[in-house]
Amino acid sequence: MDKMNIRKAAMIGCGFVGASSAFALMQSGIFSEMVMIDADHAKAEGEAMDLSHGLPFARPVKIYDGDYDDIVDAGIIIITAGANQKPDETRLDLIHKNVEIYKQIIPEIAKRGCEGILLIVSNPVDILTYTALKLSGFPEHRVIGSGTVLDTARLKYLIGEHLGVDNRSVHAFIIGEHGDSELAAWSNANISGVRLSDFCEMRGHFMHEESENRIYEKVRNSAYEIIERKHATYYGIAMAVKRICECIIRNEQSILPVSSMMHGIYGMKDIVISMPAIVGKDGVENVIPISLDEEEKMQLKRSADILTGMKEMIKK
Ligand code: 2OP
Repeated sequence: MDKMNIRKAAMIGCGFVGASSAFALMQSGIFSEMVMIDADHAKAEGEAMDLSHGLPFARPVKIYDGDYDDIVDAGIIIITAGANQKPDETRLDLIHKNVEIYKQIIPEIAKRGCEGILLIVSNPVDILTYTALKLSGFPEHRVIGSGTVLDTARLKYLIGEHLGVDNRSVHAFIIGEHGDSELAAWSNANISGVRLSDFCEMRGHFMHEESENRIYEKVRNSAYEIIERKHATYYGIAMAVKRICECIIRNEQSILPVSSMMHGIYGMKDIVISMPAIVGKDGVENVIPISLDEEEKMQLKRSADILTGMKEMIKK
């Protein structure tokens, strides 16, 4: 194999999510090379051309369209390919279509002996990350799903707006399935170390349960709300992809709620689901067993059970 270039990204899938993610990555300056790949070659070529024309206003990065031979030395292989949610569809409705697409893509990656990290973004992301892990035979730490990184960003944004505080000072997680069964881990949420309910009261908010439910519902329904209006979501996820890539390339060891393989945490085994995890140069280093109350543990179990059911479905 050619020597791996950690600062090279391969983007498989150049739809709205792939193109927007590439745009965010180009502006971040973290990569020196980015190859755009799509079943529709002209689309990949067009995106590479369009992105390249912005380079005089950005930091140097070689952007070009290519094929699977071009991913061999990539440090991160990002997969956004697949059908996306239509209005009235859930992420899980995409399961069969996208598992079939992954059955084409992943063997192409595996047979080339790539040593980079696989970052799965297509939906349903947890099931597709599991599929990618099984089909690639890659070590588990090298197969990551974008998981609930976006949902957590939505949560932080909404809490920040509610409390009039910088959303980066909000410490809270959405965990579980990236989908309808996800949960907000309210019991450990805090604003720079101040318990959420205490901070709320400082800001004149006393209806904790009502506000939490309203914010959670808003997070969970975000994708539906956006898809109803503009038929797709892509900028939020693009920023989430950029954040995950930064953690890997800079070996940040930041804690992000990516989806990865579980080995017994809260009783979850042999499923891929989102829990906060340390993300660095090798991918997922450690899954963090954040504290949950009894109700949250039950919700997490429910979410895990749904994904286990889906996983059984794809085996058939
Ligand atoms: C999102 O949450 C659809 O998964 C996509 O925006």
